[in-house]
Amino acid sequence: MHNLRRLKPYLKPHSRRIAQACVVMVFVAIFNGAMVWLLKPVVDYVFIKKDPRMLAGVVLIIPIIFLTKMIFTYTQAYLMSYLGQIITQEIREDLFRHLHELSLEFFWRSRSGDILSRLTNDLTRLQDGIQFVPLYLVRDSLTVLILLVVMFFIHWQFALTALFTIPFAASVLSVLGKKLRTSSRKSQEIMGELYSRFQESLQGMLVVKAFNYESGAIARFQIENDALFNQMMRYFRATALSGPLMEFLGSLIMAAVIWQGGKEILAFKMTPGSFFVFLGSFFAAYAPIKNISQLNSKLQMALVSADRIFQVLDEKPSVVDKPLAPKFESLKSLIEFENVSFRYGGQERWALRNVSFKIQAGQTVGVVGPSGSGKTTLVYLMLRLFDPSEGRILIDGKDIRDYCSASLRAKMGLVTQETVLFNDTVSANVSLGNPHATEDEIIEALKIADAYDFVSRLENGLLTHLGDRGLKLSGGERQRLAIARSVLKKPSLLILDEATSNLDAASEKSVQAALERVSKSNTTLSIAHRLSSIKNAGKILVFNRGELAESGSHEELIALNGLYATLDRFQKISVEP
Ligand SMILES: Nc1ncnc2c1ncn2[C@@H]1O[C@H](COP(=O)(O)OP(=O)(O)OP(=O)(O)O)[C@@H](O)[C@H]1O
Ligand SMILES: [Mg+2]
Repeated sequence: MHNLRRLKPYLKPHSRRIAQACVVMVFVAIFNGAMVWLLKPVVDYVFIKKDPRMLAGVVLIIPIIFLTKMIFTYTQAYLMSYLGQIITQEIREDLFRHLHELSLEFFWRSRSGDILSRLTNDLTRLQDGIQFVPLYLVRDSLTVLILLVVMFFIHWQFALTALFTIPFAASVLSVLGKKLRTSSRKSQEIMGELYSRFQESLQGMLVVKAFNYESGAIARFQIENDALFNQMMRYFRATALSGPLMEFLGSLIMAAVIWQGGKEILAFKMTPGSFFVFLGSFFAAYAPIKNISQLNSKLQMALVSADRIFQVLDEKPSVVDKPLAPKFESLKSLIEFENVSFRYGGQERWALRNVSFKIQAGQTVGVVGPSGSGKTTLVYLMLRLFDPSEGRILIDGKDIRDYCSASLRAKMGLVTQETVLFNDTVSANVSLGNPHATEDEIIEALKIADAYDFVSRLENGLLTHLGDRGLKLSGGERQRLAIARSVLKKPSLLILDEATSNLDAASEKSVQAALERVSKSNTTLSIAHRLSSIKNAGKILVFNRGELAESGSHEELIALNGLYATLDRFQKISVEP
Protein backbone atom coordinates (compact mmCIF):
# COMPACT_ATOMS: atom_id res chain seq x y z
CA MET A 1 0.00 0.00 0.00
CA HIS A 2 2.81 2.35 0.98
CA ASN A 3 4.56 1.71 -2.32
CA LEU A 4 1.41 2.29 -4.31
CA ARG A 5 1.07 5.63 -2.56
CA ARG A 6 4.68 6.45 -3.40
CA LEU A 7 3.95 5.68 -7.05
CA LYS A 8 1.00 8.05 -7.14
CA PRO A 9 2.93 11.22 -8.00
CA TYR A 10 4.40 9.40 -10.98
CA LEU A 11 1.01 8.14 -12.16
CA LYS A 12 -0.93 11.33 -11.62
CA PRO A 13 0.39 13.42 -14.53
CA HIS A 14 -0.61 10.60 -16.85
CA SER A 15 -4.12 10.07 -15.50
CA ARG A 16 -5.68 10.96 -18.87
CA ARG A 17 -3.65 8.34 -20.71
CA ILE A 18 -4.41 5.81 -18.00
CA ALA A 19 -8.13 6.48 -18.39
CA GLN A 20 -7.84 6.17 -22.17
CA ALA A 21 -5.99 2.90 -21.78
CA CYS A 22 -8.71 1.54 -19.49
CA VAL A 23 -11.46 2.43 -21.96
CA VAL A 24 -9.57 0.79 -24.82
CA MET A 25 -8.93 -2.31 -22.68
CA VAL A 26 -12.68 -2.63 -22.06
CA PHE A 27 -13.27 -2.55 -25.81
CA VAL A 28 -10.60 -5.17 -26.43
CA ALA A 29 -12.23 -7.40 -23.82
CA ILE A 30 -15.64 -6.98 -25.42
CA PHE A 31 -14.22 -7.90 -28.81
CA ASN A 32 -12.39 -10.91 -27.42
CA GLY A 33 -15.60 -12.10 -25.75
CA ALA A 34 -17.95 -11.31 -28.59
CA MET A 35 -15.93 -12.80 -31.41
CA VAL A 36 -16.75 -16.37 -30.48
CA TRP A 37 -20.35 -15.61 -31.50
CA LEU A 38 -19.19 -15.58 -35.12
CA LEU A 39 -18.96 -19.36 -34.94
CA LYS A 40 -22.73 -19.71 -34.54
CA PRO A 41 -23.89 -18.33 -37.93
CA VAL A 42 -20.97 -20.06 -39.67
CA VAL A 43 -21.86 -23.48 -38.32
CA ASP A 44 -25.66 -23.23 -38.06
CA TYR A 45 -26.51 -21.23 -41.21
CA VAL A 46 -23.61 -21.73 -43.60
CA PHE A 47 -22.55 -25.32 -42.94
CA ILE A 48 -25.82 -26.87 -41.81
CA LYS A 49 -28.59 -24.79 -43.43
CA LYS A 50 -26.33 -24.00 -46.43
CA ASP A 51 -27.52 -20.39 -46.70
CA PRO A 52 -25.41 -18.61 -49.40
CA ARG A 53 -26.41 -15.10 -48.25
CA MET A 54 -25.15 -15.87 -44.79
CA LEU A 55 -21.88 -17.10 -46.31
CA ALA A 56 -21.37 -13.78 -48.09
CA GLY A 57 -22.32 -11.86 -44.94
CA VAL A 58 -19.89 -13.77 -42.75
CA VAL A 59 -17.07 -13.40 -45.28
CA LEU A 60 -17.65 -9.65 -45.32
CA ILE A 61 -18.00 -9.16 -41.62
CA ILE A 62 -14.95 -11.16 -40.47
CA PRO A 63 -12.32 -8.77 -41.87
CA ILE A 64 -14.25 -5.76 -40.56
CA ILE A 65 -14.40 -7.16 -37.04
CA PHE A 66 -10.75 -8.12 -37.04
CA LEU A 67 -9.70 -4.76 -38.41
CA THR A 68 -11.55 -2.97 -35.60
CA LYS A 69 -10.06 -5.34 -33.07
CA MET A 70 -6.62 -4.72 -34.53
CA ILE A 71 -7.00 -0.97 -34.04
CA PHE A 72 -8.11 -1.40 -30.44
CA THR A 73 -5.42 -3.95 -29.62
CA TYR A 74 -2.71 -1.78 -31.13
CA THR A 75 -3.90 1.32 -29.28
CA GLN A 76 -4.01 -0.60 -26.03
CA ALA A 77 -0.51 -2.04 -26.50
CA TYR A 78 0.80 1.38 -27.47
CA LEU A 79 -0.75 3.15 -24.49
CA MET A 80 0.42 0.58 -21.96
CA SER A 81 3.99 0.52 -23.30
CA TYR A 82 3.97 4.30 -23.35
CA LEU A 83 2.88 4.46 -19.72
CA GLY A 84 5.38 1.81 -18.62
CA GLN A 85 8.22 3.60 -20.39
CA ILE A 86 7.41 7.19 -19.45
CA ILE A 87 6.89 6.41 -15.77
CA THR A 88 10.11 4.43 -15.45
CA GLN A 89 11.94 7.11 -17.39
CA GLU A 90 10.84 9.66 -14.82
CA ILE A 91 11.79 7.40 -11.90
CA ARG A 92 15.17 6.69 -13.49
CA GLU A 93 15.84 10.39 -13.81
CA ASP A 94 14.80 11.01 -10.22
CA LEU A 95 17.11 8.20 -9.09
CA PHE A 96 20.07 9.64 -10.95
CA ARG A 97 19.38 13.11 -9.64
CA HIS A 98 18.78 11.87 -6.10
CA LEU A 99 22.03 9.86 -6.08
CA HIS A 100 23.88 13.06 -6.87
CA GLU A 101 22.18 14.85 -4.01
CA LEU A 102 23.19 12.22 -1.45
CA SER A 103 26.28 12.67 0.67
CA LEU A 104 29.45 10.68 0.12
CA GLU A 105 28.66 8.70 3.26
CA PHE A 106 25.83 6.87 1.45
CA PHE A 107 28.14 5.60 -1.28
CA TRP A 108 30.63 4.22 1.20
CA ARG A 109 27.87 2.49 3.07
CA SER A 110 26.32 0.85 0.00
CA ARG A 111 27.75 -1.49 -2.60
CA SER A 112 27.76 0.06 -6.04
CA GLY A 113 26.64 -3.24 -7.57
CA ASP A 114 23.57 -3.19 -5.37
CA ILE A 115 22.67 0.37 -6.36
CA LEU A 116 23.20 -0.49 -10.01
CA SER A 117 20.95 -3.51 -9.79
CA ARG A 118 18.20 -1.31 -8.33
CA LEU A 119 18.68 1.12 -11.21
CA THR A 120 18.44 -1.62 -13.82
CA ASN A 121 16.77 -4.89 -12.78
CA ASP A 122 14.33 -3.43 -10.30
CA LEU A 123 13.33 -0.66 -12.62
CA THR A 124 12.67 -3.16 -15.40
CA ARG A 125 10.51 -5.23 -13.06
CA LEU A 126 8.59 -2.18 -11.98
CA GLN A 127 8.04 -1.23 -15.60
CA ASP A 128 6.81 -4.73 -16.29
CA GLY A 129 4.34 -4.37 -13.44
CA ILE A 130 3.11 -0.97 -14.57
CA GLN A 131 2.63 -2.27 -18.08
CA PHE A 132 1.02 -5.65 -17.40
CA VAL A 133 -0.75 -5.60 -14.05
CA PRO A 134 -3.54 -3.24 -15.26
CA LEU A 135 -3.77 -5.20 -18.48
CA TYR A 136 -4.33 -8.48 -16.68
CA LEU A 137 -6.55 -6.85 -14.12
CA VAL A 138 -8.87 -4.96 -16.46
CA ARG A 139 -8.68 -6.54 -19.88
CA ASP A 140 -8.25 -10.18 -19.00
CA SER A 141 -10.63 -10.31 -16.04
CA LEU A 142 -13.29 -8.66 -18.15
CA THR A 143 -12.64 -10.99 -21.07
CA VAL A 144 -13.04 -14.03 -18.84
CA LEU A 145 -16.19 -12.56 -17.36
CA ILE A 146 -17.72 -11.97 -20.78
CA LEU A 147 -16.78 -15.46 -21.95
CA LEU A 148 -18.37 -16.94 -18.83
CA VAL A 149 -21.57 -15.01 -19.47
CA VAL A 150 -21.58 -16.35 -23.03
CA MET A 151 -21.15 -19.89 -21.74
CA PHE A 152 -23.90 -19.51 -19.14
CA PHE A 153 -26.16 -18.06 -21.76
CA ILE A 154 -25.67 -21.07 -24.01
CA HIS A 155 -25.86 -23.87 -21.47
CA TRP A 156 -25.65 -23.07 -17.79
CA GLN A 157 -25.02 -26.65 -16.63
CA PHE A 158 -21.94 -26.91 -18.90
CA ALA A 159 -20.85 -23.48 -17.87
CA LEU A 160 -20.97 -24.47 -14.24
CA THR A 161 -18.76 -27.50 -14.97
CA ALA A 162 -16.37 -25.26 -16.88
CA LEU A 163 -16.33 -22.75 -14.05
CA PHE A 164 -15.05 -25.44 -11.73
CA THR A 165 -12.15 -26.28 -14.01
CA ILE A 166 -10.93 -22.66 -13.96
CA PRO A 167 -9.38 -22.70 -10.47
CA PHE A 168 -7.84 -26.05 -11.31
CA ALA A 169 -6.21 -24.71 -14.48
CA ALA A 170 -5.11 -21.56 -12.66
CA SER A 171 -3.44 -23.54 -9.89
CA VAL A 172 -1.54 -25.76 -12.33
CA LEU A 173 -0.42 -22.64 -14.14
CA SER A 174 0.71 -20.95 -10.96
CA VAL A 175 2.74 -23.98 -9.81
CA LEU A 176 4.48 -24.05 -13.17
CA GLY A 177 4.88 -20.29 -13.01
CA LYS A 178 6.57 -20.49 -9.62
CA LYS A 179 9.06 -23.03 -10.96
CA LEU A 180 9.77 -20.81 -13.92
CA ARG A 181 10.27 -17.78 -11.72
CA THR A 182 12.66 -19.53 -9.35
CA SER A 183 14.83 -20.78 -12.14
CA SER A 184 14.66 -17.48 -13.96
CA ARG A 185 15.72 -15.63 -10.80
CA LYS A 186 18.58 -18.04 -10.22
CA SER A 187 19.79 -17.72 -13.77
CA GLN A 188 19.64 -13.95 -13.44
CA GLU A 189 21.83 -14.13 -10.35
CA ILE A 190 24.36 -16.30 -12.16
CA MET A 191 24.19 -13.98 -15.13
CA GLY A 192 25.04 -11.10 -12.78
CA GLU A 193 28.07 -13.01 -11.50
CA LEU A 194 29.24 -13.77 -15.02
CA TYR A 195 28.78 -10.16 -15.97
CA SER A 196 30.88 -8.96 -13.07
CA ARG A 197 33.63 -11.48 -13.97
CA PHE A 198 33.75 -10.00 -17.46
CA GLN A 199 33.86 -6.52 -15.98
CA GLU A 200 36.59 -7.48 -13.51
CA SER A 201 38.79 -8.92 -16.22
CA LEU A 202 38.17 -6.06 -18.63
CA GLN A 203 39.08 -3.49 -16.00
CA GLY A 204 41.92 -5.40 -14.41
CA MET A 205 43.52 -6.82 -17.56
CA LEU A 206 46.83 -5.22 -16.62
CA VAL A 207 46.98 -7.11 -13.32
CA VAL A 208 45.61 -10.29 -14.92
CA LYS A 209 48.45 -10.26 -17.44
CA ALA A 210 51.18 -9.15 -15.05
CA PHE A 211 50.35 -11.97 -12.62
CA ASN A 212 49.69 -14.62 -15.27
CA TYR A 213 46.21 -14.91 -13.83
CA GLU A 214 44.60 -15.67 -17.22
CA SER A 215 44.03 -19.36 -16.59
CA GLY A 216 42.77 -18.72 -13.05
CA ALA A 217 40.27 -16.16 -14.29
CA ILE A 218 39.18 -18.46 -17.12
CA ALA A 219 38.73 -21.42 -14.76
CA ARG A 220 36.55 -19.40 -12.39
CA PHE A 221 34.55 -18.12 -15.32
CA GLN A 222 34.02 -21.63 -16.69
CA ILE A 223 32.52 -22.88 -13.43
CA GLU A 224 29.92 -20.14 -13.46
CA ASN A 225 29.31 -20.43 -17.17
CA ASP A 226 28.56 -24.15 -16.70
CA ALA A 227 26.24 -23.34 -13.82
CA LEU A 228 24.40 -20.89 -16.03
CA PHE A 229 23.98 -23.53 -18.70
CA ASN A 230 22.47 -26.00 -16.22
CA GLN A 231 20.18 -23.38 -14.76
CA MET A 232 19.01 -22.22 -18.18
CA MET A 233 18.32 -25.84 -19.22
CA ARG A 234 16.23 -26.29 -16.06
CA TYR A 235 14.33 -23.18 -17.04
CA PHE A 236 13.74 -24.40 -20.56
CA ARG A 237 12.65 -27.83 -19.39
CA ALA A 238 9.96 -26.15 -17.31
CA THR A 239 8.98 -23.81 -20.16
CA ALA A 240 8.94 -26.55 -22.75
CA LEU A 241 6.71 -28.68 -20.53
CA SER A 242 4.18 -26.03 -19.61
CA GLY A 243 2.66 -25.54 -23.09
CA PRO A 244 2.11 -29.22 -24.01
CA LEU A 245 0.97 -30.04 -20.47
CA MET A 246 -1.74 -27.41 -20.57
CA GLU A 247 -2.72 -28.61 -24.04
CA PHE A 248 -3.09 -32.13 -22.77
CA LEU A 249 -5.21 -31.02 -19.79
CA GLY A 250 -7.30 -28.98 -22.21
CA SER A 251 -7.82 -31.99 -24.41
CA LEU A 252 -9.24 -33.96 -21.46
CA ILE A 253 -11.74 -31.22 -20.75
CA MET A 254 -12.55 -30.94 -24.44
CA ALA A 255 -13.21 -34.66 -24.62
CA ALA A 256 -15.61 -34.38 -21.68
CA VAL A 257 -17.42 -31.38 -23.18
CA ILE A 258 -17.70 -33.06 -26.59
CA TRP A 259 -19.06 -36.18 -24.97
CA GLN A 260 -21.77 -34.28 -23.09
CA GLY A 261 -22.39 -31.73 -25.85
CA GLY A 262 -22.59 -34.47 -28.49
CA LYS A 263 -25.38 -36.10 -26.51
CA GLU A 264 -27.25 -32.79 -26.24
CA ILE A 265 -26.92 -32.14 -29.97
CA LEU A 266 -28.07 -35.69 -30.83
CA ALA A 267 -31.10 -35.09 -28.60
CA PHE A 268 -31.73 -31.77 -30.47
CA LYS A 269 -31.46 -29.81 -27.23
CA MET A 270 -28.60 -27.63 -28.61
CA THR A 271 -27.59 -26.47 -32.08
CA PRO A 272 -24.08 -27.38 -33.28
CA GLY A 273 -23.40 -23.63 -33.69
CA SER A 274 -24.12 -22.96 -30.01
CA PHE A 275 -21.94 -25.91 -29.11
CA PHE A 276 -19.00 -24.49 -31.05
CA VAL A 277 -19.52 -21.05 -29.51
CA PHE A 278 -19.36 -22.71 -26.12
CA LEU A 279 -16.22 -24.63 -26.98
CA GLY A 280 -14.69 -21.50 -28.53
CA SER A 281 -15.42 -19.47 -25.39
CA PHE A 282 -13.86 -22.13 -23.26
CA PHE A 283 -10.60 -22.07 -25.18
CA ALA A 284 -10.60 -18.32 -25.67
CA ALA A 285 -10.55 -18.05 -21.88
CA TYR A 286 -7.25 -19.93 -21.68
CA ALA A 287 -4.85 -17.07 -22.43
CA PRO A 288 -6.57 -14.53 -20.15
CA ILE A 289 -6.75 -17.08 -17.32
CA LYS A 290 -3.07 -17.78 -17.78
CA ASN A 291 -2.38 -14.05 -17.44
CA ILE A 292 -4.63 -13.68 -14.41
CA SER A 293 -2.79 -16.54 -12.71
CA GLN A 294 0.40 -14.49 -13.09
CA LEU A 295 -1.24 -11.32 -11.88
CA ASN A 296 -0.36 -11.68 -8.24
CA SER A 297 3.25 -12.70 -8.80
CA LYS A 298 3.82 -9.85 -11.25
CA LEU A 299 2.27 -7.45 -8.79
CA GLN A 300 4.40 -8.77 -5.92
CA MET A 301 7.59 -8.60 -7.95
CA ALA A 302 6.80 -5.05 -9.03
CA LEU A 303 6.04 -4.03 -5.45
CA VAL A 304 9.24 -5.57 -4.09
CA SER A 305 11.19 -3.74 -6.78
CA ALA A 306 9.31 -0.49 -6.14
CA ASP A 307 10.24 -0.87 -2.49
CA ARG A 308 13.93 -1.30 -3.34
CA ILE A 309 13.81 1.75 -5.61
CA PHE A 310 12.00 3.93 -3.09
CA GLN A 311 14.51 2.94 -0.42
CA VAL A 312 17.12 4.74 -2.49
CA LEU A 313 14.83 7.67 -3.22
CA ASP A 314 13.99 7.98 0.48
CA GLU A 315 17.65 8.18 1.53
CA LYS A 316 18.40 11.54 3.09
CA PRO A 317 21.74 13.28 2.58
CA SER A 318 23.74 13.39 5.81
CA VAL A 319 25.17 16.82 5.09
CA VAL A 320 22.35 19.32 4.67
CA ASP A 321 22.43 23.06 4.07
CA LYS A 322 20.61 25.35 6.42
CA PRO A 323 17.62 27.02 4.80
CA LEU A 324 18.63 30.20 2.95
CA ALA A 325 22.31 29.56 3.73
CA PRO A 326 24.36 32.41 2.21
CA LYS A 327 26.81 31.83 -0.63
CA PHE A 328 30.47 31.56 0.23
CA GLU A 329 32.27 34.26 -1.75
CA SER A 330 36.00 33.93 -1.02
CA LEU A 331 38.54 33.45 1.72
CA LYS A 332 39.62 36.77 3.18
CA SER A 333 41.86 36.06 6.12
CA LEU A 334 41.69 32.76 7.99
CA ILE A 335 40.61 29.11 8.01
CA GLU A 336 40.40 27.68 11.49
CA PHE A 337 39.87 24.15 12.81
CA GLU A 338 38.53 24.45 16.35
CA ASN A 339 38.71 21.25 18.45
CA VAL A 340 37.52 19.16 15.54
CA SER A 341 36.82 15.48 16.16
CA PHE A 342 35.36 13.06 13.68
CA ARG A 343 34.57 9.39 13.40
CA TYR A 344 33.10 7.56 10.44
CA GLY A 345 29.59 6.16 10.76
CA GLY A 346 29.49 2.90 12.71
CA GLN A 347 33.12 3.21 13.85
CA GLU A 348 34.36 3.17 17.40
CA ARG A 349 37.70 4.77 16.62
CA TRP A 350 38.14 8.50 16.12
CA ALA A 351 39.58 9.29 12.70
CA LEU A 352 40.36 12.79 13.99
CA ARG A 353 40.56 13.77 17.64
CA ASN A 354 40.47 17.30 19.01
CA VAL A 355 42.32 18.92 16.12
CA SER A 356 42.93 22.67 16.15
CA PHE A 357 45.01 24.72 13.71
CA LYS A 358 44.86 27.82 11.53
CA ILE A 359 45.61 28.51 7.89
CA GLN A 360 46.23 32.16 6.99
CA ALA A 361 45.06 33.37 3.59
CA GLY A 362 47.90 32.99 1.09
CA GLN A 363 49.77 30.53 3.29
CA THR A 364 50.88 27.05 2.24
CA VAL A 365 50.31 24.49 4.97
CA GLY A 366 51.84 21.04 4.66
CA VAL A 367 50.32 17.96 6.28
CA VAL A 368 52.29 14.81 7.00
CA GLY A 369 51.77 11.70 9.07
CA PRO A 370 51.74 7.91 8.85
CA SER A 371 49.17 6.07 6.78
CA GLY A 372 45.76 6.11 8.43
CA SER A 373 46.54 9.12 10.62
CA GLY A 374 43.53 11.10 9.36
CA LYS A 375 44.99 13.31 6.64
CA THR A 376 42.43 12.53 3.96
CA THR A 377 39.65 12.77 6.54
CA LEU A 378 40.77 16.35 7.07
CA VAL A 379 40.13 17.03 3.38
CA TYR A 380 36.65 15.49 3.53
CA LEU A 381 35.74 17.76 6.42
CA MET A 382 37.17 20.80 4.67
CA LEU A 383 35.04 20.05 1.58
CA ARG A 384 32.06 19.46 3.87
CA LEU A 385 31.56 15.95 2.51
CA PHE A 386 31.06 15.14 6.20
CA ASP A 387 30.35 17.36 9.17
CA PRO A 388 32.62 17.14 12.24
CA SER A 389 31.24 15.02 15.08
CA GLU A 390 32.51 17.65 17.48
CA GLY A 391 34.11 21.07 17.09
CA ARG A 392 33.86 23.59 14.27
CA ILE A 393 35.60 24.61 11.09
CA LEU A 394 35.55 28.37 10.60
CA ILE A 395 36.30 30.42 7.53
CA ASP A 396 36.83 34.09 8.30
CA GLY A 397 35.19 33.46 11.65
CA LYS A 398 32.05 31.80 10.29
CA ASP A 399 31.19 28.11 10.67
CA ILE A 400 31.29 26.39 7.24
CA ARG A 401 27.98 24.74 8.12
CA ASP A 402 26.38 28.17 7.76
CA TYR A 403 27.34 28.48 4.10
CA CYS A 404 25.63 26.83 1.16
CA SER A 405 27.83 23.78 0.64
CA ALA A 406 27.83 23.94 -3.18
CA SER A 407 29.22 27.49 -3.07
CA LEU A 408 31.85 26.33 -0.57
CA ARG A 409 32.97 23.46 -2.80
CA ALA A 410 33.00 25.77 -5.80
CA LYS A 411 35.86 27.59 -4.08
CA MET A 412 37.90 24.49 -3.14
CA GLY A 413 40.34 23.07 -5.64
CA LEU A 414 41.06 19.39 -5.04
CA VAL A 415 43.85 17.35 -6.58
CA THR A 416 44.06 13.75 -5.33
CA GLN A 417 46.28 10.77 -5.94
CA GLU A 418 43.73 9.21 -8.30
CA THR A 419 42.68 11.51 -11.09
CA VAL A 420 39.17 10.85 -12.28
CA LEU A 421 38.74 11.89 -15.88
CA PHE A 422 35.41 11.55 -17.60
CA ASN A 423 34.81 10.14 -21.05
CA ASP A 424 34.73 13.55 -22.68
CA THR A 425 37.05 16.12 -24.30
CA VAL A 426 40.12 17.61 -22.60
CA SER A 427 38.39 20.95 -22.46
CA ALA A 428 35.21 19.51 -20.86
CA ASN A 429 37.31 17.66 -18.30
CA VAL A 430 39.28 20.73 -17.36
CA SER A 431 36.26 23.03 -17.14
CA LEU A 432 34.31 20.55 -14.99
CA GLY A 433 34.04 22.91 -12.01
CA ASN A 434 33.71 26.01 -14.15
CA PRO A 435 31.59 25.24 -17.21
CA HIS A 436 31.45 28.90 -18.30
CA ALA A 437 35.21 29.24 -18.62
CA THR A 438 36.39 30.69 -21.94
CA GLU A 439 38.90 28.91 -24.13
CA ASP A 440 41.54 31.46 -23.17
CA GLU A 441 40.98 30.79 -19.48
CA ILE A 442 41.25 27.04 -20.07
CA ILE A 443 44.50 27.50 -21.99
CA GLU A 444 45.87 29.70 -19.24
CA ALA A 445 45.02 27.11 -16.59
CA LEU A 446 46.67 24.40 -18.70
CA LYS A 447 49.79 26.55 -19.01
CA ILE A 448 49.97 27.11 -15.25
CA ALA A 449 49.63 23.37 -14.73
CA ASP A 450 52.39 22.73 -17.29
CA ALA A 451 49.88 20.75 -19.37
CA TYR A 452 49.50 22.98 -22.39
CA ASP A 453 52.44 21.49 -24.29
CA PHE A 454 51.21 17.92 -24.27
CA VAL A 455 47.58 18.94 -24.82
CA SER A 456 48.46 20.90 -27.94
CA ARG A 457 50.35 17.86 -29.21
CA LEU A 458 47.18 15.70 -28.97
CA GLU A 459 45.50 15.08 -32.32
CA ASN A 460 42.56 17.42 -31.70
CA GLY A 461 44.12 19.61 -29.03
CA LEU A 462 41.59 20.79 -26.47
CA LEU A 463 38.83 18.89 -28.24
CA THR A 464 40.54 15.48 -28.03
CA HIS A 465 38.30 12.81 -26.52
CA LEU A 466 39.90 11.14 -23.54
CA GLY A 467 38.28 7.71 -23.87
CA ASP A 468 37.26 5.53 -20.97
CA ARG A 469 38.71 6.81 -17.70
CA GLY A 470 41.30 8.85 -19.59
CA LEU A 471 43.34 5.79 -20.52
CA LYS A 472 45.05 7.59 -23.37
CA LEU A 473 47.15 9.69 -20.98
CA SER A 474 50.11 8.95 -18.76
CA GLY A 475 49.83 9.30 -14.98
CA GLY A 476 51.74 12.59 -14.96
CA GLU A 477 49.65 14.02 -17.80
CA ARG A 478 46.41 13.09 -16.08
CA GLN A 479 47.67 14.67 -12.88
CA ARG A 480 48.51 17.91 -14.63
CA LEU A 481 45.02 18.01 -16.12
CA ALA A 482 43.67 17.60 -12.60
CA ILE A 483 45.78 20.54 -11.48
CA ALA A 484 44.54 22.65 -14.41
CA ARG A 485 41.00 21.70 -13.46
CA SER A 486 41.55 23.02 -9.95
CA VAL A 487 43.41 26.13 -11.08
CA LEU A 488 40.53 27.05 -13.39
CA LYS A 489 38.20 27.23 -10.39
CA LYS A 490 40.35 30.07 -8.96
CA PRO A 491 39.98 28.36 -5.61
CA SER A 492 40.07 30.04 -2.22
CA LEU A 493 41.81 26.95 -0.95
CA LEU A 494 43.79 24.50 -3.04
CA ILE A 495 43.86 21.04 -1.48
CA LEU A 496 46.50 18.58 -2.63
CA ASP A 497 46.12 15.06 -1.25
CA GLU A 498 49.27 13.21 -2.21
CA ALA A 499 48.96 14.66 -5.66
CA THR A 500 52.35 13.38 -6.78
CA SER A 501 52.71 10.06 -5.00
CA ASN A 502 51.53 7.99 -7.96
CA LEU A 503 54.11 9.39 -10.30
CA ASP A 504 57.59 8.40 -11.38
CA ALA A 505 60.51 10.70 -10.56
CA ALA A 506 60.49 12.59 -13.87
CA SER A 507 56.75 13.30 -13.92
CA GLU A 508 56.82 14.10 -10.22
CA LYS A 509 59.35 16.79 -10.88
CA SER A 510 57.26 18.54 -13.52
CA VAL A 511 54.01 18.13 -11.56
CA GLN A 512 55.74 19.35 -8.40
CA ALA A 513 57.02 22.41 -10.25
CA ALA A 514 53.51 23.11 -11.52
CA LEU A 515 52.09 22.68 -8.03
CA GLU A 516 54.61 25.02 -6.49
CA ARG A 517 53.78 27.67 -9.06
CA VAL A 518 50.07 27.29 -8.25
CA SER A 519 50.60 27.28 -4.47
CA LYS A 520 52.50 30.56 -4.64
CA SER A 521 49.40 32.44 -5.70
CA ASN A 522 46.96 30.41 -3.59
CA THR A 523 46.13 29.37 -0.09
CA THR A 524 47.15 25.72 -0.10
CA LEU A 525 46.71 22.67 2.07
CA SER A 526 49.19 20.11 0.84
CA ILE A 527 49.22 16.53 2.09
CA ALA A 528 52.36 14.64 1.23
CA HIS A 529 54.11 11.37 1.86
CA ARG A 530 57.47 12.69 0.74
CA LEU A 531 58.54 15.34 3.18
CA SER A 532 60.76 16.94 0.52
CA SER A 533 57.69 18.23 -1.30
CA ILE A 534 56.38 20.24 1.65
CA LYS A 535 59.67 21.26 3.19
CA ASN A 536 59.18 24.87 2.11
CA ALA A 537 55.65 25.17 3.42
CA GLY A 538 55.10 28.05 5.86
CA LYS A 539 53.67 25.63 8.39
CA ILE A 540 53.72 21.85 8.63
CA LEU A 541 51.14 19.85 10.60
CA VAL A 542 52.20 16.40 11.74
CA PHE A 543 49.35 13.96 12.36
CA ASN A 544 49.51 10.75 14.30
CA ARG A 545 46.54 8.45 14.94
CA GLY A 546 44.02 11.18 14.30
CA GLU A 547 45.71 13.71 16.54
CA LEU A 548 47.74 16.75 15.66
CA ALA A 549 51.06 15.69 17.16
CA GLU A 550 53.36 18.54 16.15
CA SER A 551 53.30 21.69 14.09
CA GLY A 552 55.77 24.31 12.94
CA SER A 553 58.22 25.04 10.14
CA HIS A 554 60.58 22.37 8.82
CA GLU A 555 63.48 23.71 10.85
CA GLU A 556 61.42 24.01 14.03
CA LEU A 557 60.15 20.46 13.69
CA ILE A 558 63.63 19.07 13.06
CA ALA A 559 64.85 20.90 16.14
CA LEU A 560 61.93 19.44 18.12
CA ASN A 561 63.35 16.00 17.32
CA GLY A 562 59.96 14.27 17.46
CA LEU A 563 57.86 12.31 14.97
CA TYR A 564 58.64 14.65 12.07
CA ALA A 565 62.37 14.37 12.63
CA THR A 566 62.06 10.57 12.74
CA LEU A 567 60.05 10.52 9.49
CA ASP A 568 62.64 12.82 7.95
CA ARG A 569 65.52 10.55 8.97
CA PHE A 570 63.76 7.46 7.56
CA GLN A 571 63.09 9.13 4.25
CA LYS A 572 66.63 10.42 3.97
CA ILE A 573 67.91 6.90 4.54
CA SER A 574 65.63 5.40 1.90
CA VAL A 575 66.14 8.19 -0.63
CA GLU A 576 69.86 8.70 -0.17
CA PRO A 577 71.38 5.40 0.89
N1 LIG B 1 35.05 5.45 4.75
C1 LIG B 1 35.60 5.12 5.91
N2 LIG B 1 34.88 4.44 6.82
C2 LIG B 1 35.41 4.11 7.99
N3 LIG B 1 36.65 4.38 8.36
C3 LIG B 1 37.45 5.07 7.51
C4 LIG B 1 36.95 5.47 6.24
N4 LIG B 1 37.95 6.12 5.60
C5 LIG B 1 39.00 6.13 6.45
N5 LIG B 1 38.71 5.49 7.59
C6 LIG B 1 39.59 5.32 8.75
O1 LIG B 1 39.90 6.61 9.25
C7 LIG B 1 41.28 6.69 9.59
C8 LIG B 1 41.93 7.86 8.88
O2 LIG B 1 41.93 7.60 7.49
P1 LIG B 1 42.51 8.62 6.42
O3 LIG B 1 42.09 8.16 5.09
O4 LIG B 1 42.13 9.99 6.81
O5 LIG B 1 44.07 8.42 6.62
P2 LIG B 1 45.26 9.07 5.80
O6 LIG B 1 46.11 9.77 6.80
O7 LIG B 1 44.76 9.84 4.65
O8 LIG B 1 46.06 7.78 5.30
P3 LIG B 1 46.90 7.57 3.94
O9 LIG B 1 48.20 8.23 4.16
O10 LIG B 1 47.06 6.09 3.86
O11 LIG B 1 46.12 8.15 2.83
C9 LIG B 1 41.89 5.35 9.23
O12 LIG B 1 42.01 4.62 10.41
C10 LIG B 1 40.89 4.69 8.32
O13 LIG B 1 40.86 3.31 8.54
MG1 LIG C 1 44.93 9.61 2.53
